[in-house]
Amino acid sequence: MKNWKLAAGLLLSVALPGSAMATDLEVTHWWTSGGEAAAVAELAKAFDADGQDHWVDGAIAGGGGTARPIMISRITGGDPMGATQFNHGQQAKELVEAGLMLDLTDVAEANHWKDVIYPPSLLDSCTLDGKIYCAPVNIHSPEWLWLSNKAYEKAGIPVPKDWNEFVASAPALEAAGIIPLALGNQPWQSNLAFGAITVAVGGLDLWKKINVSKDMDAAAGPDMAKVFEAAANARKLAAKSTVQDWNQATNLVITGQAGGQIMGDWAQGEFAVANQVAGKDYTCLPGLGLNEYLSTGGDAFYFPKLKDADKEAAQKRLAALLVSPEVQVAFNLKKGSLPIRGDVNLDAANDCMKKGLKILASGNLVPSGDMVWSADVQKQAEDLMVEFWKTDMAPADAQAKWVEILKTGL
Ligand code: GAL
Repeated sequence: MKNWKLAAGLLLSVALPGSAMATDLEVTHWWTSGGEAAAVAELAKAFDADGQDHWVDGAIAGGGGTARPIMISRITGGDPMGATQFNHGQQAKELVEAGLMLDLTDVAEANHWKDVIYPPSLLDSCTLDGKIYCAPVNIHSPEWLWLSNKAYEKAGIPVPKDWNEFVASAPALEAAGIIPLALGNQPWQSNLAFGAITVAVGGLDLWKKINVSKDMDAAAGPDMAKVFEAAANARKLAAKSTVQDWNQATNLVITGQAGGQIMGDWAQGEFAVANQVAGKDYTCLPGLGLNEYLSTGGDAFYFPKLKDADKEAAQKRLAALLVSPEVQVAFNLKKGSLPIRGDVNLDAANDCMKKGLKILASGNLVPSGDMVWSADVQKQAEDLMVEFWKTDMAPADAQAKWVEILKTGL
């Protein structure tokens, strides 16, 4: 028996003429929730489809804050993957500046990325010295409030139409044994919630003054003090939310154990996997229902330089595929994100995605925090925010510390 297996193994190991072995490409990312995995499967399926290439999945659990240091150390440590996810913005800036990442300008030009990718800021954040180093794959906006229709039915009150009504609904939710606000324990989740409340309560102009014009007087001013007070009130609503990961918090909303969650539109992937229908089972409020805008966050893939011509060719095939109309539709519908090009048919989009597409078309857009602040400032702000949300830190103290952090990024 053993000899037969050995012979079969030897035979299979010889690549027969005309049946070239597929090129393996290891792809790292932090998409490990149900909805995220469903979306990744669409990318892998597309890449494997013609048999020329093979997607070797390198999922890293724990979210971006855990995954990115691993990705960066592998690339700088001489153990690069074939492709890796980062957020739009500055997270891979130093890797590109160090000459460790593959120039994709030829792929971008051959596929007219400059004409099809919208908003153009997505490609700008991939560009250094006129060369393009990443393939944008989606637009995610963090500033959404997700509400459980079931929880409000149980509490006997109408589903809120905005953040203020949501805060006012908390006593009725608590009386019904429901956690008002679901929030996980990762730093980026606290920072995301704070950013969303900033625009909802402080307004778009204040957000732009601080994050685009970098006006530190505004950051230290009375309007921002109101935002910190609103965030301090919100943290009381999340006091009984003891989960860690964002999708566990989303599950509290899906199951009606919590009334709402401030989370990016990637939460849609979880509702979809739970077979819940937007508008029927859950309600989504972009800009927390107060300021309908989108910040163009989201994800792009970068490709470390490899000393292998076949793998480099496969990297460029993957980059082109990620931006292609077919993959943009298949991936974003599962991911709950918006496509990075306007020439695709998204009739299959659900009510929430349609709200997002309408805002995208309106141009009511702002850059994401990842684009306007360095990775270091973002990390410091996240660490402050998780402390603020999980302790009784005074709003004024938090604001003072926050301003000092922003000043390090000027
Ligand atoms: C974000 C990323 C999204 C999403 C989220 C939670 O940084 O842009 O794609 O999946 O993390 O993992």
